[in-house]
Amino acid sequence: MKNLSTLLGGLSVNEFLRDYWQKKPLLIRKAIPDFTGLLGADELIQLACTEDVQARLVTQDKGKFGLCHTPFEADDFKHFGKKKWTVLVQGVNHHLPEGAALLKHFDFIPHTRLDDLMVSYAPKGGGVGPHFDSYDVFLLQGLGHRRWQISTQADHTLIEGAPLRILRDFKIEQEWVLEAGDMLYLPPHCAHNGIAEDDCMTYSIGFRTPAYQELGEQFLVYLQDRINIDGMYADPDLKTQKHPSKISIDMIKQVESAVAKIRWDREDIANFLGCYLSEPKPHIFFDTPERPLSAAKFAQRVQQRGLELDLKSQMLSHKGWIFMNGEAYSANGDSFEALRTLADQRSLSAEMPQSAETLDLLYQWYLDGYLSPA
Ligand code: SIN
Ligand code: CO
Repeated sequence: MKNLSTLLGGLSVNEFLRDYWQKKPLLIRKAIPDFTGLLGADELIQLACTEDVQARLVTQDKGKFGLCHTPFEADDFKHFGKKKWTVLVQGVNHHLPEGAALLKHFDFIPHTRLDDLMVSYAPKGGGVGPHFDSYDVFLLQGLGHRRWQISTQADHTLIEGAPLRILRDFKIEQEWVLEAGDMLYLPPHCAHNGIAEDDCMTYSIGFRTPAYQELGEQFLVYLQDRINIDGMYADPDLKTQKHPSKISIDMIKQVESAVAKIRWDREDIANFLGCYLSEPKPHIFFDTPERPLSAAKFAQRVQQRGLELDLKSQMLSHKGWIFMNGEAYSANGDSFEALRTLADQRSLSAEMPQSAETLDLLYQWYLDGYLSPA
């Protein structure tokens, strides 16, 4: 993966963002010219059978799709090669350092938008059917060949009752066969269908686009721990009412004005976004060090060799705040700069001097399994 001026087919990042990102599909031949994949089909199946890994198996039987989810056992895959099945493994970047390294090529998109690296494997004829996603995705071809058919159709009606989201009426507008190193960018809601031409592995670099409804609901969850409204309900002028069951207009008005005192500002929004977007998915667990180094030994190792984020860690930054796996930490000056570098690069070199305060925080994160000395 050397010559990455090829990644966007000769377009600069700014040209790509201006003309294609979230707008229209782009096929890039030889985006990563020497890319042949990061793992073999057997290794992917093994990963699919590993605890804490999210995977799906899409089956096809006489044109009918079926869907199974993790947990899987090796036996579930014993007839795999003979069928038009597809196994799809999420979060490969959380398990394979090469997967995390591949994502670095896409650092021109902010980490707040990144979802994960999904890898699929299918023998000839395999695929998940025509569908659309609410994601921006770069579909990078590894092993073998995949025929991609796409459509910008507005009709998104799905087949009712199908176990997967399959478009009822997919009208192919363009199609290509991708080989190793070729890549297809698709904006959200662009209909697509990928069919394996032979033994085929596809690497999906996915970028989430959270729905406002989800953000709104989650913001209210965030806010519930932070609101502070003084006073309590009072009715010294209470009047009798004909129906004791009735909620009086006085009560409604009083509570309406109390609730209207709930306020938030841009800092709250930033803090919420930092916590929410860096929150690991529910199935993710961190391994704490079995025999942890002492704080002094840890500091020495970091200053000698630097440190690396755990593959599962998610870190974001915003003016004086660092967000690590769903928690906010305030940091200033050099400490903020160092932690932001760690968030940007997922590693810190030994040359970067650390204050005692930063080392304390890094040590806590080391004990939590969020990072380790290099
Ligand atoms: C696949 O890799 O088989 C499917 C990816 C997708 O269509 O989103
Ligand atoms: Co898709």
